[in-house]
Amino acid sequence: KAPPQRRGSLCYIPPAIHERIEHYEKLFGVSTEQLKKITEHFVAELDKGLSKEGGSIPMNVAWVLDYPTGKETGKYLALDMGGTNLRVAEIILNGDRTFDVVQSKYHMPANTKTSSAENLWGYVADCVGKFIDQYHEGATDQLMMCFTFSYPCTQESIGHGVLQRWTKGFDIDGVEGHDVVPMLQSALDERKIPVKCAALINDTTGTLVASNYVDPRTKMGCIFGTGCNAAYYDVVKNIPKLEGLVPDDISPDSWCAINCEYGAFDNEHVSLPRTKFDDHLDKHSPRPNQQSFEKMIAGYTLGEILRLVLLDEFEGGNIFEGQDISKLQQPYVLDAAFLSKIETDPWENLMDTEALFSEELGIETNESERAMVHRLCELIGTRAARLSMCGVAAMAKKMNMESAHAGADGSVFNKYPYFKQRAARALADIFDWGDMPAEDHPIKVVAAEDGSGVGAGVIAALTKKRYESHKS
Ligand code: GLC
Repeated sequence: KAPPQRRGSLCYIPPAIHERIEHYEKLFGVSTEQLKKITEHFVAELDKGLSKEGGSIPMNVAWVLDYPTGKETGKYLALDMGGTNLRVAEIILNGDRTFDVVQSKYHMPANTKTSSAENLWGYVADCVGKFIDQYHEGATDQLMMCFTFSYPCTQESIGHGVLQRWTKGFDIDGVEGHDVVPMLQSALDERKIPVKCAALINDTTGTLVASNYVDPRTKMGCIFGTGCNAAYYDVVKNIPKLEGLVPDDISPDSWCAINCEYGAFDNEHVSLPRTKFDDHLDKHSPRPNQQSFEKMIAGYTLGEILRLVLLDEFEGGNIFEGQDISKLQQPYVLDAAFLSKIETDPWENLMDTEALFSEELGIETNESERAMVHRLCELIGTRAARLSMCGVAAMAKKMNMESAHAGADGSVFNKYPYFKQRAARALADIFDWGDMPAEDHPIKVVAAEDGSGVGAGVIAALTKKRYESHKS
């Protein structure tokens, strides 16, 4: 299905620009056939990730061994370190699939992402300290905390996590290959903050569990935000790489959450329809040849893809003639919000887009250039939404889900215009649902419950329950 054509195309577009637009429609378009093929390969790669030999998708065992019952109760502290913000929360589970949350958000200064480990954990611990001062002043008893650390970790139990590698543009020495829990714990202890980090989870696992807590139809938890990833429940005996590693008290028939880390899909570059812009972006990223799928989809790269296309067009003499493009030459100067604003520009002649280019980049645009930019945003945004559904479809196929909800969270899912519609269209294409109304689709991507808050709370409750049942 062709994406919606905008009214802006009514303006006169010179043939040269028209020809460029057609070129990009071919370059960024992903057909139903392509989606189906990618999905098939994706299913095989999910399986490979669970095998003893492993594959490029990590398929990290998350050690959440039960579906919630909805009856979980208690008060839990949660810390969320995503890609952009830091959040500390206290969650009260009411035991009837409802909950209450008190939380504070802190900005993650850009330099913490590339500074030193000491700086990072110090900053994180200080934020936890501020929250405790505000809501638990004078507390001396240790409070239990669940840490949502949204990066790939190897876990031998829920209380630990060895960072496999940084993703989403983070690049801090001395953390990869180490257990992050003791690092955070010593920063907390040094500051005499009475908090014990008792569990470590990924945001996708949190999203899966939180959404299942309120809606038992949820079988997948997805993040379409700064990064792109998902989690689902598999069965212990169907995870070959766990053979010989499962403690005796865990039944082989037990459910076990898997954090796929499928942003790493196609790291070997054999399946996805990559362009020279994707190659350039990858080559100049802190971790080339990693997170290949994510780099075509995630919030932190959409703006960069657009920027690279615009620069290429400028260099080809097709747009922005005689303009000073020095601001556009700065890597990552455009973010996903920039594309969102352009896609939702309501003006016939794209006046919001004109203002954006002029104010943020110092570039004066004409109408046909703006029409082209607008179409590029549609194409880049649509490609992201369509490709992202190959991962969801692959999990559904792998687990033979006939009907299911995928709880989804993240800035792209929540804020990027038309993402949800485009994603639903792509799923319908993959599964041959034709023109069935989206509300009747057997597999639906729906807005999730707050994974790193409620999910962390529910997982803390499940962990406590398991721990206590062992003691007795
Ligand atoms: C990146 C991280 C992953 C996280 C995702 C969404 O892919 O590696 O752990 O779930 O971003 O935040």
